[in-house]
Amino acid sequence: MIRLHVNVDHVATLRQQRDTIYPDPVLAAGLCELAGADGITAHLREDRRHIQERDVRLLRQTVRGVLNLEMAAVPSIVDLALQIKPDFCTLVPEKREERTTEGGLDLRGQGAAIGRTVRTLRDAGIGVSLFIDPEEDAARASADLGAVCAELHTGDYCHAASGSAAARRELTRLEKAGRAVADAGLRLAAGHGLDYANVGAVAALPFLEELNIGHSIIARAVLVGVERAVVDMRAAIAAGARGAE
Ligand code: PXP
Repeated sequence: MIRLHVNVDHVATLRQQRDTIYPDPVLAAGLCELAGADGITAHLREDRRHIQERDVRLLRQTVRGVLNLEMAAVPSIVDLALQIKPDFCTLVPEKREERTTEGGLDLRGQGAAIGRTVRTLRDAGIGVSLFIDPEEDAARASADLGAVCAELHTGDYCHAASGSAAARRELTRLEKAGRAVADAGLRLAAGHGLDYANVGAVAALPFLEELNIGHSIIARAVLVGVERAVVDMRAAIAAGARGAE
């Protein structure tokens, strides 16, 4: 079964909007797990625009499944990760001016620095995933840099109109890159921009083991509650995966 990790950043976004202590992403994470999520993902950004250090420390104490920390490969955050010891760190590129992570890692330009961070985290017993554009080269480079998992950026697929030629092209790209990830011996994950309508085709990709989904689940949770939002997403993923059998 494909694992679902719910990204709780957007609960923290709502809290930071007013500098209140609610809604609490830690509480939301517990509810997500009770509703059947296999793990929790949180992105501690350098600018602390949503998730705070306090959240990650409490998530480490409370999450029962997998805790996946998304982070930039920068010394201050790496130091924190080494203290907090999430089960997994997913390295992502980070720009101050972006609204959300816009692309995969630049493994050509930044490969040496990323490789050093991968080694540092792995030496501390933390699994490392790299967030990459759906390209075969990036898949192979992820293995060379020592990652155990690669997460394909699904943003371009999600931006393409549903059922369009562009969406089909993006799915083919994802499939090819996914095969390259599996051929390189890495676990395959995917995420970014996935919602209840577009997740099925991604869940049907060969070798896919894990999805990281945030915005669409938290947006639905605002209206129908966390449990229903997670259960509905699990159903959409299962239907897509069944379609591929
Ligand atoms: N995976 C990664 C690496 C991300 O950076 C994000 C966004 O923080 C997600 C998944 C989740 O994206 P979304 O909130 O669009 O579901």
